[in-house]
Amino acid sequence: MLNIAVLISGSGTNLQALIEAEKEGKLRSGAIRLVISDRPEAYGLIRAAENGIPAATVDRKAFSDPEEFDLALEEQLRNHHIDLVVLAGFLSILGKELVRGYDGRMINIHPSLIPAFCGEGYYGLKVHRAALEKGVKVTGATVHYVNEIADDGRIIMQKPVEVREDDTPESLQRRVMKEAEWILLPKAVEEVCMTLMNRGTGPNPEKKGGV
Ligand code: GRF
Repeated sequence: MLNIAVLISGSGTNLQALIEAEKEGKLRSGAIRLVISDRPEAYGLIRAAENGIPAATVDRKAFSDPEEFDLALEEQLRNHHIDLVVLAGFLSILGKELVRGYDGRMINIHPSLIPAFCGEGYYGLKVHRAALEKGVKVTGATVHYVNEIADDGRIIMQKPVEVREDDTPESLQRRVMKEAEWILLPKAVEEVCMTLMNRGTGPNPEKKGGV
């Protein structure tokens, strides 16, 4: 089983979807070993506590130097022998060194069909507002590998969602989460874990015990 860390900044509904998938036996090749938030007030930390998952806050505001923030985050990942990092509503930009260190082992979920409505400045409701302003008839969600450019890494999976005439950014966000994100992320995490296992790149050789 691979060790998974889920990085969050807010409500954590995608984290919850992963927790439910694990309970339902849909996450067979990996286990959520750690939740990290870059905001102490993130509700996702309560979801982690309620499910007995170790959690840490690496408060972005407490670090004036982004490299210090990355080092503190990396230490948490190393201490928990993390094999796969999942960015699920994580808003802080990670530095090149950290991202390169987890090349092929860091994935992100984005609430649009990349390459539409993605990149710097496109997050949360802004994505859905832009989709509605453009008048697209279909949007959705994408899970992709993380590289040094926001939302640019190789796409793993996508799921479309129809836009309704009467949609608001809030109603569209909710439906994209429910009809796409919460279904797509557990599937993508399982697939990536299998890929890493087959490639023999996991579990992390430093990890004690392991199978
Ligand atoms: C999700 O829409 C995700 O795609 C985006 O941020 C939102 C976070 O939602 N990156 P939650 O914290 O998982 O509820």
